[in-house]
Amino acid sequence: MKKVLVLGSGAREVAITRSVSQSSIKNVIFCISKDINPQIDDLCEDYHVCDVSDVASVVSYSRKKEIDLAIVGPENPLACGVVNALEHAGVRCVGPKKEVAMIETSKSFARMIVDLCCPEKNPQRKEFISIRGVKNFMETLGGEYVVKFDGLMGGKGVRVSGEHLKNVNEGLDYANEIINNGGRFLIEEKLIGEEFSLMSFVDGKTCKHMPVVQDHKRAFDGDAGPNTGGMGTYSFGNHSLPFLTQKNILEAQKTNELVAKQLLKHTGLPYVGVLYGGFMLTKDGVKVIEYNARFGDPEAMNVLSILKSDFLSICISLVEGRLEKEEVSFDKLATVCKYVVPIGYPNSPAKGFEVFCDQNDPSLFLASVMLKDKKLIACGSRTAAVIGKNKDIWKAEAFSEEGVSNVLGKLFHRKDIGTKGLIDSRVKRMKGLLG
Ligand code: AMP
Ligand code: GLY
Repeated sequence: MKKVLVLGSGAREVAITRSVSQSSIKNVIFCISKDINPQIDDLCEDYHVCDVSDVASVVSYSRKKEIDLAIVGPENPLACGVVNALEHAGVRCVGPKKEVAMIETSKSFARMIVDLCCPEKNPQRKEFISIRGVKNFMETLGGEYVVKFDGLMGGKGVRVSGEHLKNVNEGLDYANEIINNGGRFLIEEKLIGEEFSLMSFVDGKTCKHMPVVQDHKRAFDGDAGPNTGGMGTYSFGNHSLPFLTQKNILEAQKTNELVAKQLLKHTGLPYVGVLYGGFMLTKDGVKVIEYNARFGDPEAMNVLSILKSDFLSICISLVEGRLEKEEVSFDKLATVCKYVVPIGYPNSPAKGFEVFCDQNDPSLFLASVMLKDKKLIACGSRTAAVIGKNKDIWKAEAFSEEGVSNVLGKLFHRKDIGTKGLIDSRVKRMKGLLG
């Protein structure tokens, strides 16, 4: 009997918990998070309410429950060294130690690692801690730049010229805001093209890749509005995306493999867990946008919903360094995942309102909610994700819309994710860029 601990309580962790619970390997599941997610609670033996980044509490709970394996959902506990401490206490972890998780927690570290193993995948960039030279570098990039806070900001620390930043002065204002808060930042060349996510299971030596997925970071239809944690995602039944060639996918897979290897070389520590490469196909080929040290959210819902192999068996192989021999395969189905989020999200989200939905619906993944007096209350971040899957992506999209219409509250979602209109326009735009 495997005692499995899941850290975190969002939609991604619902997907992880469900996948573990469906394993043919006998298991009992425990969860630690700040709020009780009722869908996770239903599948758990015990639920411990505490901050997932409170390393001492996580370790003492794991000891008390004699946990065999911990699966870390979000990035914050990775940054705090929860894996270092759990492994020290004898608990194997799906998730990297903090020294290797820096591939996500420090954007300058990530760029340095990519420079060491595949420099052609990096955009031009410079790191700054003061305003000296910033304007100059923005001008060198022809006014086409991105300002990135060098740390964790839940996907919201990046501002792009011509989109969030209307002119050089707005760019300088944002840079000054970061400096005044004691932060470091990068200015990068603004890459133009189509983004896609490629996640790989990694056991330190071997990478087994998942289907590629496209996320939508912007809050509103037509890719308008501020960046968010991700409003929705889709993947195609052939495990590719219509603007990508097989060569593009192989290039992204190779990049994840090189990065995992470089991390071992650079830190002396194996990368164990899910390595998430955020890529962009540009006219100059596939480039790295960012790396994450965990499952993407919403991408986890897309890939775990079609995982054919036994998830817990994969996790055990990961921590035991036996991934090479492990079967990792996915159903040939398209998926469309849409988040419903509070009105005002991400800048000034409504919160504290009641959410009405069917918690037993397997296509529904509750996220930033809590139970209060037996009522489901929205906490302000992304509320719930709904997945549609089918051989036909347009049907998958229709299923996810139908699911969304059954979640009621002060909520909105992006209607365009996974639609023919949006996907065709992206393919057309990419064709135009490639010439
Ligand atoms: P990150 O937190 O690094 O994933 O950035 C969030 C979003 O900002 C990405 O998904 C991209 O849409 C955008 N972004 C980040 N870096 C760049 C870049 N160098 N060029 C263009 N867009 C970028
Ligand atoms: N979907 C983007 C992320 O998980 O960071």
